Amino acid sequence: MKKIGVMTGGGDCPGLNAVIRSVVVKAATLGHEVIGFKRGWKGLLEGGETVRLDIEDVEDIYMLGGTIIGTSRTNPLKLENGMEQVEKNLQKHECFALVAIGGEDTLGVANVLCNKGMKIVGVPKTIDNDLSATDYTFGFDTAINIATEALDRLHTTAKSHERVLVVEIMGRHAGWMALHAGMAGGAHIILIPEVPFDVDWICQIVKERKKKGKDYTLVAVSEGAIPTDFGSFVTKDAKKDEFERERLGGIAECLARIIEEKTGLETRSVVLGHLQRGGSPTTYDRVLGTRLGVKAVEMIHNGEFGKMASVRGTEIVSVPIAEAVEVLKKVPPERYEEARIFFA
Ligand code: F6P
Repeated sequence: MKKIGVMTGGGDCPGLNAVIRSVVVKAATLGHEVIGFKRGWKGLLEGGETVRLDIEDVEDIYMLGGTIIGTSRTNPLKLENGMEQVEKNLQKHECFALVAIGGEDTLGVANVLCNKGMKIVGVPKTIDNDLSATDYTFGFDTAINIATEALDRLHTTAKSHERVLVVEIMGRHAGWMALHAGMAGGAHIILIPEVPFDVDWICQIVKERKKKGKDYTLVAVSEGAIPTDFGSFVTKDAKKDEFERERLGGIAECLARIIEEKTGLETRSVVLGHLQRGGSPTTYDRVLGTRLGVKAVEMIHNGEFGKMASVRGTEIVSVPIAEAVEVLKKVPPERYEEARIFFA
């Protein structure tokens, strides 16, 4: 029997527990046991905590949101001897391999550690769906379903009060969430980071709708969207995390104020925020997470280190982690064009 470590890093995401359960169950079928390193890379640093993961511990967790082993945005590469500490801790706990479940930051670290010879496989996680080398990341489907439901609900109140509502949707520098939720939730305008926008163009659409007797407008805006006048995305403050990521947010409030000023129509903003990340995963995310977990353990068993389990069409395959973290997967222009014909 060999021991496999598992950790979850970065923002939490619905479906993480489905992956953990799957890793434990699949490992057991191959005669391996699993331990969890708590709070992301923190668990693999000095003073880090671990938790034993037996089948009984994980059998009922597939429907739970969040991650039972906790997460953090700790970056071991920023610490002196961080890499050595990770390696030492894996040895101390007799783990011959590690499953790293995370997005671009967590897997970026995993990639560096693999290049140093550590035995790691990756599982792609993020509600933002912005990881390359995989068609989808688990968590995305749940998050866009929550955002779509919010838009459905906001239609009725915006219509009743004849208001313009600007809805801020997560996704960082990729517009997948705003695009999908905006399309499914019938937003009249969708704004994504990949296509900087002119505020006057939005006001024009709002006014034209009003002229046509459509007295309300719903704008779905990605938190990383860029007004051409500003030349950059909006941030809440100057704070950055350990991966040098800025805290995005505030675009909806800012846009609502300008739209109201320029059109004279009552305009409000709504920030969906962490609601999009919380709670139970959808069926799609449970199945995707489960399949990725099974694949990750198979990859360990076959010695495919430095690779990530990935979904391509309906198949689960393995790809180099390096490919996944090389560039951010952004919305291609043609996908935005598809949506644009519905803006009115
Ligand atoms: O990457 C996932 C994500 O939810 C982004 O969409 C968002 O910008 C960010 O994390 C928020 O992170 P935090 O919870 O650390 O503020």
